[in-house]
Amino acid sequence: MTTPPYDPAMPAMPTSPETPGAAGDPFAAPSVPYHVSGNGHAPTQMPTQAPSAWPQAAPIPMPYMAQTSLFPPPDSAVVAWGLTKRFGKKVAVDGLTLAVRRGEFFGFLGPNGAGKSTTIKMMVGLLRPDAGAALIGGIDVWRDPVQAKMLMGVLPEQMNLYERLTGRELIEFAGKLYDLPTPEVRRRAESLLNVLMLSDAADKLVVDYSVGMRKKVALAAALIHRPQVLFLDEPFEGVDPVSSRVIRDLLRDLTNNGATVFFSSHIMEVVERLCTRVGVINNGQLIAEGTLAELRQQAGEANATLEDLFLQLVGANAREGGLEWLE
Ligand SMILES: Nc1ncnc2c1ncn2[C@@H]1O[C@H](COP(=O)(O)OP(=O)(O)O)[C@@H](O)[C@H]1O
Ligand SMILES: [Mg+2]
Repeated sequence: MTTPPYDPAMPAMPTSPETPGAAGDPFAAPSVPYHVSGNGHAPTQMPTQAPSAWPQAAPIPMPYMAQTSLFPPPDSAVVAWGLTKRFGKKVAVDGLTLAVRRGEFFGFLGPNGAGKSTTIKMMVGLLRPDAGAALIGGIDVWRDPVQAKMLMGVLPEQMNLYERLTGRELIEFAGKLYDLPTPEVRRRAESLLNVLMLSDAADKLVVDYSVGMRKKVALAAALIHRPQVLFLDEPFEGVDPVSSRVIRDLLRDLTNNGATVFFSSHIMEVVERLCTRVGVINNGQLIAEGTLAELRQQAGEANATLEDLFLQLVGANAREGGLEWLE
């Protein structure tokens, strides 16, 4: 089955100039020294030279550093900087630092409760970090939320859709929130409904949609302003193979056109197939990061699947625990 490509007639995303930091580039690095206030955990200034200049060194191997001795890389689409969140005594996310470059298809892996959703919520401006910072295209999500949000689309874990709207109304409503002109909103909504195979259900209320249809309509609403960076929290959870394929193809088209995708999942096979780079989180800490080839190399297992590597990293011993009473 082939799906039509992501509407090429949509206006192109602003292309980035060769020199990062040039005027008008939303991905330009901040021109003023960068301060994170009031936490004592994250670095107080964005280093221009680093790792040795960091008050808090990242506890993970950073391939970018080896290549450039700069963190974050100048073409970062997403930077998490010592992100930390506590819920009571539980440290859900513990000083997480990572960078995702533009155009990457980044898979964020971790067992249940590892801190994936909490990290994504802090990156997209839904949950305020206790410490640290998140930057989208060099823009601080918590200092310049509106500007940062113009650059991103989000498919959150709990979608909280307006159930009494039709699918079409919901997508068009999202477009209007971004101040797009009405004819453009209509045109984009129509093409998104079409590509996501929702046209037949476009005028039904969202309350009557299946899980897969909800994910697709929420994805359409996240895409209507043509975001540079798309965050998706478990986009394939509860989605049938047909919808899953449609979503995969759409995400691939987006990254082929220069957008950056950051998605969390625990479905290894999907991540292995789609992602150019993965990060593994466990107990709130990033414990590995790299391409599949780099992770294999780090593990010394040339033929390991992503699942093998993941289970090794998170220390899962599937056969321990003894269910002899079942035998
Ligand atoms: N609002 C909250 N209140 C209390 N604890 C929370 C809250 N949100 C998440 N947690 C806890 O933080 C940890 C990380 O959760 P989460 O980020 O949802 O993990 P994941 O998405 O990787 O499954 C878990 O132990 C979870 O129980
Ligand atoms: Mg989650």
